[in-house]
Amino acid sequence: MADPGADRQKMTVAARKLRENTRPGTERGFRIVITGKGGVGKTTITALLAHLFAEKGFTTLAVDEDPQMNLPYAIGIPREESDRIVPLTKNFDYVEEKTGARPGAGWGLMLTLNPDVSDVVERFGAKGPGGVNILVMGTVEHAATGCLCPENTLLEAVIRYINLRDDEVILMDTPAGVEHFGRTIARGFDQALLLTDPTFNAVQVVRHAAQLAKELGIPSVWLVINRVRSENDICKVQELLGDTRDLFSGQFYLPYDESLIACEPDVRPVLAEASPFIDRLRALQVRLENDGRIPEIMHEEGK
Ligand SMILES: Nc1ncnc2c1ncn2[C@@H]1O[C@H](COP(=O)(O)OP(=O)(O)OP(=O)(O)O)[C@@H](O)[C@H]1O
Ligand SMILES: [Mg+2]
Repeated sequence: MADPGADRQKMTVAARKLRENTRPGTERGFRIVITGKGGVGKTTITALLAHLFAEKGFTTLAVDEDPQMNLPYAIGIPREESDRIVPLTKNFDYVEEKTGARPGAGWGLMLTLNPDVSDVVERFGAKGPGGVNILVMGTVEHAATGCLCPENTLLEAVIRYINLRDDEVILMDTPAGVEHFGRTIARGFDQALLLTDPTFNAVQVVRHAAQLAKELGIPSVWLVINRVRSENDICKVQELLGDTRDLFSGQFYLPYDESLIACEPDVRPVLAEASPFIDRLRALQVRLENDGRIPEIMHEEGK
């Protein structure tokens, strides 16, 4: 049986070495987590950015952390194929193989707390169009999150593992709200995209998320204001942000674009034609790509 203590120590040493020897956003690849209130565009923006990074030749892994599992559709995986994807937590054999216990097996079993999941993408990653790879995480149904159950143990190991992969862009779409974001998943990510639209409730969520992101030590925290229809929308968000404005490494805005709704859930048609929305999104992708290489650019807007 694996020795969890020894494994954990190995993992810590590896993580420290990577942190000491490399700057985020360069040799280690990029790990970007996307969060915000429900419906602000997280899945849409994650899918579009995944395609833009892949277009530029990056090995791209889009991770669906949302139990609703709609990222595969947004990436453009056909419906029948998307429906056949079995999320990690439902791969009971894999959960058992790695943790030593089957989901729902009950208490009292010995769990391997830090399983080696280095085969997870090869075995369970789906190939999407445009060379985008996708990993669907699934959800833990019965127990409260944070529990010491086989599914959660596996998910946490996968998150730790993807934080350590080199030469890859990882974009993680998360469930709505900050609760989940604050707890475990964001640890180890280099960049966080906090998405809002010009509404009071959505801005409240990013204000909270920005504070959590700082506490978690995420080096770059970007604000993305989506569905902007006028200058007034941007001013309104600035006002609602108040002092929390200073918590962001920079801000971007993306205009409202009808064509997104016309083609949803598949985002690819939007990429095919030039538009103010796509121009801005490309600028955002470039900024994320350059993070860690440009020492100081603060509060830029879409450049
Ligand atoms: N800039 C935009 N202009 C117009 N429509 C947009 C824009 N961005 C996203 N949308 C649309 O908003 C809707 C919600 O987007 P999406 O599903 O990506 O949000 P979400 O934050 O992932 O939602 P959930 O919290 O439910 O997962 C979709 O129909 C999408 O096409
Ligand atoms: Mg979503």
